[in-house]
Amino acid sequence: MITSATPSEGKTTTAVHLAIAHAQQKHKTLLIDCDLRRPGVHTKLGINPETGLAAVLQNGMQWREKLVKLVELEDLDILPTGYSSRRAADLIGRRLPEILEDAAHDYDLIVVDSPPVLGFPEPLQMAAAVDGVVMVAKAGETNRKTVGSALSTLQRVRANVVGLVLNSVTSTMSDSYRYYGYYGKYYRYYKTAESD
Ligand SMILES: Nc1ncnc2c1ncn2[C@@H]1O[C@H](COP(=O)(O)OP(=O)(O)O)[C@@H](O)[C@H]1O
Ligand SMILES: [Mg+2]
Repeated sequence: MITSATPSEGKTTTAVHLAIAHAQQKHKTLLIDCDLRRPGVHTKLGINPETGLAAVLQNGMQWREKLVKLVELEDLDILPTGYSSRRAADLIGRRLPEILEDAAHDYDLIVVDSPPVLGFPEPLQMAAAVDGVVMVAKAGETNRKTVGSALSTLQRVRANVVGLVLNSVTSTMSDSYRYYGYYGKYYRYYKTAESD
């Protein structure tokens, strides 16, 4: 599950890129847009589905019938939200565990995009149901205390936080020198590997 403390830190961007990268390596991947309050996966992928997860939650439809595929990515299945509602947002926390349990047999990785942790109850229910939670924070914008508060909220529900993505890091940020040094090492490695 990809989440963040507050809105617009890059959850959807991270979730979509992670899912695409995983599928490009020929691993079966499912991307579920579980941010029923502000869904964004469909926009990022340029798809416009009328129904999806929201209809599954509200009308008891089968989630597999709502899957969308991109032409060029055979190993990626997408479960968009479709037209969403407050009621669907209220239901996702309780219903996600059974969808995940069902889908776990068919996929190598399930990426769950979610609402921000602070302010909504359902991401906490969702965090307790997934194998691992990745927090996204926006470099130079997200307040350290806010991230800390989101992390302790996740700890309270015994979520397994597996890492933090620092989004929007630019070369002008203070320790950019270290980043360049780091990439430099990899670059040398690739050059050596190529000449072998
Ligand atoms: N690393 C990035 N570089 C450029 N734009 C970004 C980056 N991360 C996010 N954005 C943009 O910022 C906005 C919010 O990102 P989004 O992934 O939708 O956040 P969230 O899902 O946390 O609300 C979007 O318009 C997105 O395209
Ligand atoms: Mg989003």
